[in-house]
Amino acid sequence: MATASPVVPKPQIRQTECFIGGQWTPAKSGKTFATVNPASEEVIAEVAEGDAEDVDAAVKAARRAFEDSEWSRMDARDRGRLMHRLCDLIEEEAEELAALETLDNGKPIRDARAADLPLAIDCLRYYAGFADKIEGETIPVRGNYFTYTRQEPVGVVGQIIPWNFPILMVAWKWGPALAAGCTIVMKPAEQTPLTCLRLARLAQKAGFPDGVINIVPGYGPTAGAALVKHPDVDKIAFTGEHLTAQTIMQDASQTLKRLTFELGGKSPNIVLPDADLDAAVAGSHFGLFFNQGQCCCAGSRLFVHESIHDDFIDRLSALNTNRKLGNPLDPETEQGPQVDRNQFDKIMSFIERGKSEGATCLSGGSRHGDVGYFIEPTVFTNVEDEMAIAKDEIFGPVMSVLKFKDIDEVIERGNQTFYGLAAAVWTRDVAAAHRMADALRAGTVWVNCYDVFDAAAPFGGFKMSGQGRELGAKGLNAYLETKTVTVALD
Ligand code: NAI
Ligand code: MG
Repeated sequence: MATASPVVPKPQIRQTECFIGGQWTPAKSGKTFATVNPASEEVIAEVAEGDAEDVDAAVKAARRAFEDSEWSRMDARDRGRLMHRLCDLIEEEAEELAALETLDNGKPIRDARAADLPLAIDCLRYYAGFADKIEGETIPVRGNYFTYTRQEPVGVVGQIIPWNFPILMVAWKWGPALAAGCTIVMKPAEQTPLTCLRLARLAQKAGFPDGVINIVPGYGPTAGAALVKHPDVDKIAFTGEHLTAQTIMQDASQTLKRLTFELGGKSPNIVLPDADLDAAVAGSHFGLFFNQGQCCCAGSRLFVHESIHDDFIDRLSALNTNRKLGNPLDPETEQGPQVDRNQFDKIMSFIERGKSEGATCLSGGSRHGDVGYFIEPTVFTNVEDEMAIAKDEIFGPVMSVLKFKDIDEVIERGNQTFYGLAAAVWTRDVAAAHRMADALRAGTVWVNCYDVFDAAAPFGGFKMSGQGRELGAKGLNAYLETKTVTVALD
């Protein structure tokens, strides 16, 4: 007989202060903010609310560490070893970290264990291997000169991350920055600061010199903006909403900082008539509902060929009926709450828009329970391109199904958006697959799969979904400056 698996005990809260120059300190203002468990709506902990003064102290510490420290003199190979040591410590505490992530963010513990932690560790180890493989070139030039390039760290980097994959976003940001030899001031999202602070503690334990990694928790328009405007920060790496990126671009213009952005999407997920239907249904369901729909690359415009539409919908509905919502610390749970009240309200208002604009709400459409920010997995059919639910990023468990007739039409409609983060196509026809991969204007195209990520595979957006790439060698380049050295030989 199957026994219910035990609910994971709530983890200890250990780090709630700013981490600056190797010291844990309260915010200079003495202010704190509450981080909330979205499953219970209870306050988990009060966290230091950093602002401009704290950011300034953190940037100074990062500058000192960048210019004159063990870190700047450290062999590249030792830098890589230090990163591996951090990964060892994350592995030792993986279970505790997964529980902390679930508590703060609301994501099911099964996902935190199976996806967030292993992907974060893999990313950091991938970049650890890069630390001693950053090479310049020798370049033949006219005249009697010897010209070569050096790849140098960009300097002090400000990293601003969102709440949907807190640990993983730390790994995506720290990995290339540390491998390159940069120093870091990070501002975690105000909704989910706890695992970032815990990772900073592990980095301290691993032996990273003081000031290499600094964390200033706080709000975007205060701590975040102060980091973006700070004259001694060389680069900002940001993940979040495109409207925030527009503000950051303006705020960074005074100092002309290097910017990389990983923003949102309204990604077309296209099912051709010859697709393996079971695989397409399962993959499309996962590609939208994974992480409560809170994925930048969610397949939120699901285009299904009219000839298979009804069959597809029947199979999809069966998956939703069986989906287990509830306490995310229960290992059986498949869907947790949305991250906070704001996101919950935003998603519910999109559901109302969908209904009032005439789409058919096939399943879900309501709050689940009366405690916590849970929303039923919701499927809309008969969705038209102009409806809000087909145009705007909902960032929740709301699927919009659109019908199409032929490939040219679906390519055109798929590209009709200012976003360009991801796209997917389901087909057994190799030529059709490559044709779509060529025609879809998106940074990632998945064929017969969805949400397949790898630390080695670049990720980022076309159009207003981003700027630059993360992951892979391209992601490392975003943390390097090229210096050209020319030596007269006579
Ligand atoms: P956001 O872009 O405002 O927040 C992301 C990070 O930026 C947080 O750390 C926040 O404190 C910081 N931030 C906010 N304003 C800032 C400013 N003026 N200067 C510097 N940093 C600033 O996203 P938010 O408000 O949490 O969510 C709004 C919508 O954005 C979501 O509904 C979703 O559609 C989208 N989003 C997309 C994400 C992605 O992965 N691409 C992640 C999170 C949100
Ligand atoms: Mg915002």
